[in-house]
Amino acid sequence: MAQRILRKLVNHGNTTRAWQRPVPVFKAQDNKSPTEVLQVDPRHFQPLNTWTTEEIKNAVASHVMTTWSPCKAKNDLPIITHSSHIYLYDSDGNEYIDWTSQAVCTNSGHSLSQHVKTAINDQVDNLHFVYGGIAMTEIRARLSSLISELLPGDLVGCLFPSSGSEANEAAITMARRYSGRPKILSFYRSYHGGTKNSLSATGDFRRHYQQGSADFVKAFNFTPNFFEHAGADEDERVRSALLMLEEQIISENPESIASIVVESIPGSAGVLTMPLAYMQGVRAICDKYGILLHIDEVMCGFGRTGEMWGFQTYPGVLPDIVTSAKGLSSSVAPISFVAVNERMMEFFEDNAPGWGSTFQGHPVAMAAAYANLTEMLTTNLVGHVQSVAPAFYEHMRHCAEVHPSIKGFRALGLYGALDIATPDGEQPHEVHEARTAATNKYFEATRQNGLLGLFRPPHIHIAPPLIISEEEIQEGFDRQHRALSVLDEELGF
Ligand SMILES: Cc1ncc(COP(=O)(O)O)c(C=O)c1O
Repeated sequence: MAQRILRKLVNHGNTTRAWQRPVPVFKAQDNKSPTEVLQVDPRHFQPLNTWTTEEIKNAVASHVMTTWSPCKAKNDLPIITHSSHIYLYDSDGNEYIDWTSQAVCTNSGHSLSQHVKTAINDQVDNLHFVYGGIAMTEIRARLSSLISELLPGDLVGCLFPSSGSEANEAAITMARRYSGRPKILSFYRSYHGGTKNSLSATGDFRRHYQQGSADFVKAFNFTPNFFEHAGADEDERVRSALLMLEEQIISENPESIASIVVESIPGSAGVLTMPLAYMQGVRAICDKYGILLHIDEVMCGFGRTGEMWGFQTYPGVLPDIVTSAKGLSSSVAPISFVAVNERMMEFFEDNAPGWGSTFQGHPVAMAAAYANLTEMLTTNLVGHVQSVAPAFYEHMRHCAEVHPSIKGFRALGLYGALDIATPDGEQPHEVHEARTAATNKYFEATRQNGLLGLFRPPHIHIAPPLIISEEEIQEGFDRQHRALSVLDEELGF
């Protein structure tokens, strides 16, 4: 007979606590009174856009916290009041171009079409929420089939978490459960998310913040920061990099590796395009050892590179698992997806994928994504990216040509990165180190010249909304040149 476990309440002594500030008053015995209301600051009942800048700044200083930076950075962030097309406006009346589509995610810009607004409103009116674990919806069926149609090969099964991190979290668990193998191999110079497993798969400075989980193996990709793979030309270097990868896999025991997780074009790391032969080699190694190829398209999926998917840069390299987010709804709502191949889909018909969340398959988020995608298709947004990409590339090249502080650049579609160098040809500091006086002056110059974007030196990311016109690209680079002149001077050129 099962033994009953008795748990005793432990007496922690007389710990009467004095609250630093009073909490809102509501007594349980007064529940009978329908008129009882929690007493909070009456200003919370004012409509939005009525707090003064002073009131906002005070609340930010006292209560707001940030994520990847020390929290006092919050006090220097512009307070954005409204946005339109590719522009954002702050509480001091300044206009900025959204120069990195926020976190490379506001792909369709800031003026929502009637099509998208109506879809969201209709979904809110008809059915704002059912939990995906106990009910099915038309929007989920339709979005799943649309994603599957947009993906090549046999990527047929879809689920919809709320962020890129969660999508990778789910995909990692699914790869382990499907293969019965524990290890995940991923690369340095990558970012896969901030949750436990997605951060363990990450290969940049953000993994320093947490102890990683067991069974994550890191390899150097084709473009390490401080060395080159051996070889007289690219073919030889690709061969060296693939031999290193394969030897590492053999040493780890190939039968213990569930998946290789790779960004098709590592974005945060500086828009690194791999040689075709390298990615073909990674696919071939996966086939040889029965390892799943999981391509993370969170940042570059949905047209950023001038193709629907970043992995289309590498013809013939088909993933077994794809994750994406950001451009899926163009950030109108938090939503991501995991798509798996037919064999995995079949396996999971009888086995739980093993990941879930309350808001997976959120109907309103899916409606936003579905409307965004159908609009992307009818307006041929990917075709537009292709048509402006040569001008974008030319501006990037020109920046590297005329500014001595720019040592190199990469650009594909509307996805670009400039590399900053000091007069010695070195990077001013590593990506996780605090900005120097020079890089800080440059950062301020971007704001003063009306550019708002991510800045992670030694890279300057440039990835404007995909709807940007050639004239607006020109306008953005005019501002960029003015800011880069400050950088040239500050670095001592
Ligand atoms: C390639 C890649 N994967 C995953 C993520 C994590 O996505 P999220 O921030 O939506 O959790 C990001 C975010 O920038 C990303 O760029």
